[in-house]
This record gives sequence, C-alpha cells and structure tokens, in this order.
Amino acid sequence: MNLNEVEILYDQDLIKDKVRELGKRISADYQGKDLLVLGILKGAFVFMADLVREIDIPLELDFMDVSSYGDSTVSSGDVRIVKDLDYSIRDKDVLIVEDIIDTGLTLKYIVDILQQRGTSSIKICALLDKISRRKAEIYPEYIGFTIPDEFIVGYGLDYRENYRHYPAVCILKPSVYKK
Ligand code: IMP
Ligand code: MG
Repeated sequence: MNLNEVEILYDQDLIKDKVRELGKRISADYQGKDLLVLGILKGAFVFMADLVREIDIPLELDFMDVSSYGDSTVSSGDVRIVKDLDYSIRDKDVLIVEDIIDTGLTLKYIVDILQQRGTSSIKICALLDKISRRKAEIYPEYIGFTIPDEFIVGYGLDYRENYRHYPAVCILKPSVYKK
C-alpha cells in the first residue's frame, strides 16, 4: 500500500472481526431458508469471498455487474446492467452483497429490478455505509461500518480501477483525485 496516497481506515484484523460477526448473524437469520448470495461486481468481490466463508449454512452464489456511467468519484445514479444473474431467482431468499452504499441509487435500481422476479425476499448486506449521502430509500439489513463522507479505496473498492487489491479499507487522499 502506498501510504502517500491512502490512509488506513480499517485494517485487516478489524475487517476480519466484522465480517465474522456479519457471517454469524446471516447464518442464524437464514436458517432453513433458500439463501442466494448475490455479489455486485466488481467492488464486492473481496468482501463477498470473505463473507461467504463465514456463513455456515447452505447457500448458492451469483454475481451481477452494473455500471454507473463515468468514472468520477461522485455517483450519477444513471445505472445499467452489464452482467445479469446466470440463473432464475424465483422463490429464493436473495441477499445482495455490496461494497459500499453512497447515495443508494445503484441499489435502488437493482432492488427494483429483482423485485419483479418472484423472489421470496430481498435483503442487503454492505460492508460500508456513507449514510449522510443517502438519496434513495434503501434500508440495508446488515452493515459492516458506517463511515464519514470520504472517498474509500481498497478491499475491493477502486478509484479508476486502481487500489482494489489493497487489503485494508483506506481513505484516498484528496491530493490524488483533486488534480
Ligand atoms: P451509490 O449509487 O451512490 O450508492 O454508489 C454506489 C457505488 O458507487 C458503489 O457500488 C461503488 O462502486 C461506488 N462508490 C461509492 N462511494 C465510493 C467510494 O467511496 N469509493 C469507491 N467506490 C465508491
Ligand atoms: Mg465501483
């Protein structure tokens, strides 16, 4: 990690404890249900990989890729599906796994689409929540950390496709993107 560019917000130990706690709650809550864990690419891939290994009930997993137009640090809410699910989710209990909720516009769009597909239930698990920036009515069931309005990279999150492989959740220093 280049510490001239980022500042560590949550280190690997802290993330591990939090992900374990979420996995325990999900395992208890979805006992006897038909759980399908749905990761939103690409940001959720690291969190999702760690989270499903902390869930000890049967589950299936799938991915969806949506893209907001542009690559700036502000969400436009202008979303399109880049990759849809591989299988039907009819009668499944869908748990959407997302890296971060900012305005909530992306998730609102996804939930609205999935709701038309005859699922049993749809809930949201996000590692990070920038709750002060919410514009859409999205109420996640599981949240790792509620964070201030900073631009985050690492643990799957990117700035212009960089930093996704950093193992910690980091704040990107404004000097990097305000050039
Ligand atoms: P929303 O539609 O405003 O909730 O934005 C959600 C998406 O924007 C997330 O899935 C991320 O891909 C991206 N995003 C929002 N905030 C950040 C951030 O601080 N760092 C990296 N990506 C972010
Ligand atoms: Mg992204």
